[in-house]
Amino acid sequence: MTEPDFSTATRAAYDAVATRYAEEIPERYHSSPLGQAMIPVFAELIRATGDGLVADVGCGPGHVTAHLHSLGLNAFGVDFSPEMIALARVAHPKLRFEVGLMDALAEDDASLAGVLAHYSIIHTPPERLSGTLAEFHRVLAPGGYLLLGFQAYDDSDELAEAFDHLVSLAYRYSPDRVAELLLTAGLAEVARLVIAPGEDPNRGFPQAYLLARRTEH
Ligand SMILES: C[S@@+](CC[C@H](N)C(=O)[O-])C[C@H]1O[C@@H](n2cnc3c(N)ncnc32)[C@H](O)[C@@H]1O
Repeated sequence: MTEPDFSTATRAAYDAVATRYAEEIPERYHSSPLGQAMIPVFAELIRATGDGLVADVGCGPGHVTAHLHSLGLNAFGVDFSPEMIALARVAHPKLRFEVGLMDALAEDDASLAGVLAHYSIIHTPPERLSGTLAEFHRVLAPGGYLLLGFQAYDDSDELAEAFDHLVSLAYRYSPDRVAELLLTAGLAEVARLVIAPGEDPNRGFPQAYLLARRTEH
């Protein structure tokens, strides 16, 4: 697959900031009880289905992959930034990390028990989101779980609004509209957590965590 321009630009931007990102963001994640609240739920639901593979797509420096692993999941990370993957491998040498595109994963059809996209769909342009969700559906086994974390847009008439993310152009998405796209892709919403905008000291955006399960088809 030829990489589109937006993707090349975002990857270069993450390569450039990877070291600073790895110094700051994992610590912020580990000190946010609300920000990690859905991760143990996701892990427990998957563990109940067996010990299948779980992909953390857009894994960055791998701290959430490592959290999933500490919760008993057979988790690995994928990111299109080689610098991020290099840092993830150094920080978590026992885990598997691969350079790859989340829109064109190397995994076989129906081979994964879970997919986590933790703040990684935010750089996907709205007109491409359906294709990315279809790719998550393709790699998930029937009954497998998808967890999306993203900055939320509280206007449910629109799918998304662009915002000036520090690293690269990003989009915040309406949880209701994303849930509709998930259903169309064959992923039924199971639960959601929306953190109030006042809890975000930077931009005052709500934060959404949408959990979905692949339906049988
Ligand atoms: C905001 S960071 C989130 C990193 C990590 N998941 C976290 O929660 O800190 C977005 C990550 O997604 C990766 N990413 C964005 N679009 C991607 C794509 N299409 N394929 C693979 N990785 C992607 C970036 O390189 C970056 O590491």
